[in-house]
Amino acid sequence: MTDTPKHSPSRRQFLAGAAVATGAAATGKLVHAQAAGPDPLITELQPWQQYLGDGVDVRPYGVPSKHEAHVVRRTVPWLTADAVSSINFTPLHELEGIITPNGLCFERHHSGVADIAWGDHRLMINGLVDNQMVFTMDDLMRFPRENRTYFLECAANTGMEWRGSQLNGCQFTHGMIHNVVYTGVPLRLLLEEAGLKTSGTWLLAEGADASGMTRSIPMEKALDDCLVATHMNGERLRAEQGYPVRLVVPGWEGNMWVKWLRRLEIGDAPWHHREETSKYTDLLANGDARRFTWEMDAKSVITNPSPQAPITHGPGPTVLTGVAWSGRGTIPRVDVTIDGGITWHQARMSGPSLDKSMHRFYYEFDWDGRPLLLQSRAHDSTGYVQPTKDQLRVVRGFNSIYHNNGIQTWAINEAGEAENVEIG
Ligand code: MTE
Ligand code: CO
Repeated sequence: MTDTPKHSPSRRQFLAGAAVATGAAATGKLVHAQAAGPDPLITELQPWQQYLGDGVDVRPYGVPSKHEAHVVRRTVPWLTADAVSSINFTPLHELEGIITPNGLCFERHHSGVADIAWGDHRLMINGLVDNQMVFTMDDLMRFPRENRTYFLECAANTGMEWRGSQLNGCQFTHGMIHNVVYTGVPLRLLLEEAGLKTSGTWLLAEGADASGMTRSIPMEKALDDCLVATHMNGERLRAEQGYPVRLVVPGWEGNMWVKWLRRLEIGDAPWHHREETSKYTDLLANGDARRFTWEMDAKSVITNPSPQAPITHGPGPTVLTGVAWSGRGTIPRVDVTIDGGITWHQARMSGPSLDKSMHRFYYEFDWDGRPLLLQSRAHDSTGYVQPTKDQLRVVRGFNSIYHNNGIQTWAINEAGEAENVEIG
């Protein structure tokens, strides 16, 4: 076990006291170094107790504590050959609860962040409608709007792990996901306003960024639960998330959630554009490609401990936590193993269980200080159970990039350090 924990001995001693006082869920006692003497952090007056702090005029728009400056979106250098057509990753191991703060939502752009003013943006509806229409942003704000929480997962999330364990950290293996409360106008209302023709069975969504990204969406989905969203977590969309307006396609792959949404064309067949032919399709071993694999299968990952968030205390009470989600509903149950699948335990779900949203789970246990193999397995509300990576490979082969929802393993050593591994 490591001798250089993040917490000072005094802090760990405090935690030990708290565990005893509150009767912590785990049964073991925290093992900690004895403090050599009185703790100056308790016995001496500290600088922040002696001087006035910043006033209310210093931060008109708040930012996280400067002591949390390491909590940022990160890139994988070999994946980021070109910054404007690239990806960064949500720091899942630094987050709690189910909501991703706006400044930490991963970004994926095909041609960088479009810079569009609210007043300059237009959304057009054309094709198989009675009235071709153009809406300003202020027009959109006059339609009834709804608030709903959804995860957005890029179909390429965990894509680098198909052929074997590769990236050391859940931020990089699983961080192409965010979970946000959206405010938006149901797409159905805009289509009704334009007079959708019964022959209109498909919709093409187009972005206003330089890539002019397009995706075909079947009309049943468009009329069901899609939103034309203007706000995330209560404030207007961030530029990088598609300001002033993006499409929300609940439970379906992130690529369909067109940002800087400028046009909705109604047709009677899919368009077969780039992002639904050469990209976001899965080439199987026999040479056939899976297409239109829109729904994101149930998936989970342990965020703590994990390679970027090792165990920094000795044997005793240990908190394991992670997130799970499904494009088909809710997550009523997550199983966790700490011995590589010999024994499984039902994790404790905590926080709201919302349709097509991220869920948070915990498993508290007494670590005996020996190596561990951690895995989590999500069950969704349809009864689907998250498969192992090998089970997926039997069906999909090794050519895939997209839709890898296999079970993730972290190996923990005696020092508490974690590593991305696969076990047979
Ligand atoms: N929409 C436009 N107009 N341009 C884009 O490059 N990227 C897509 C999608 N919508 C993209 C887009 C992809 S591949 C994903 S995974 C999501 O947006 C990422 O959304 P985010 O940047 O909010 O994480
Ligand atoms: Co994507």
